Amino acid sequence: MTRPRVYITRRIPDAGLDPIREACDVILWGGDEPPPYETLVDHVRDVDGLLCLLTDRIDDALMAAAPRLRVISQMAVGYDNIDVAAATRRGIVVGYTPDVLTEATADMAFALLMAAARRLVEAVDYARAGRWRTWGPLTLLGHDVHGATLGIVGLGRIGRAVARRARGFDMRVLYYDCARDEAAEREFGPACLDLDTLLAESDFVTLHVPLTPATRHLIGREQLRRMKPTAVLINTSRGPVVDQEALVEALRAGEIGYAALDVTDPEPLPPDHPLFALPNAIITPHIASASVTARAQMAVLAARNLLAGLRGEAPPFCVNPAALVRPNK
Ligand code: GLV
Repeated sequence: MTRPRVYITRRIPDAGLDPIREACDVILWGGDEPPPYETLVDHVRDVDGLLCLLTDRIDDALMAAAPRLRVISQMAVGYDNIDVAAATRRGIVVGYTPDVLTEATADMAFALLMAAARRLVEAVDYARAGRWRTWGPLTLLGHDVHGATLGIVGLGRIGRAVARRARGFDMRVLYYDCARDEAAEREFGPACLDLDTLLAESDFVTLHVPLTPATRHLIGREQLRRMKPTAVLINTSRGPVVDQEALVEALRAGEIGYAALDVTDPEPLPPDHPLFALPNAIITPHIASASVTARAQMAVLAARNLLAGLRGEAPPFCVNPAALVRPNK
């Protein structure tokens, strides 16, 4: 029996790579950066499976160039880089990797919250630059986390994990979501509010929504104006959920206090981008799920999804099971 051919768009942890290599002929893009789009299209022409990352644009034209493709396995929980409707139409199943990165991502959102509240990056730079001459009663004053109000936009898996952490810090937790989560309200007491009220009442606002046409620029000029002048905006979801130009203006004008962003628009953010020059912005390079354990588990799940799709089964974590009822292969 011929072994399936798969293309993997970057080196992933061995925990995921090894089982794929056992069962398939693997073509692995060895670069530190993503394969250019044209190269990717070229490389998928005769593969049965594709394991990709959020940095790869997987559109209808690419799928059209890959007549044998049966499964796209994304090693991420977000999949806004994939044209899922086109995949479904073409009978290609799409897998993703939820759950295994929830806690790591919530840890990072909380790390950013704490870092912004207590001006950690400014303080490290200050000490490193030799400016620490004495203990100063007014030096680098930040804001308390305990007792503050946290507004969570999107109370899904990651939003709930952040809410649990906030409860441990004695924070008051509010949330905004398109659906009310009464179980979460009973378990750890977040209050459901409309977005405008949440923005007006929160000391910290953290974003946990997927990027969709409805959430693009969900936080724009108007929303930033509703926030407290001391408020901190934390984003570990997707950059375009925030209107970044409006954010730069709001940070410069003191309309909000601080931004702590693990995701930006575009990515990577060019080094000369105004956000890097602002003392009240912390930017990290999209690393919220970057713990050794989470990334290994993501790779394992991505491998399981890929191998199931190659067998003609639904991946255990499948975005579009409908693709299986319209097999085109
Ligand atoms: C990371 O951003 C992911 O979607 O897994």
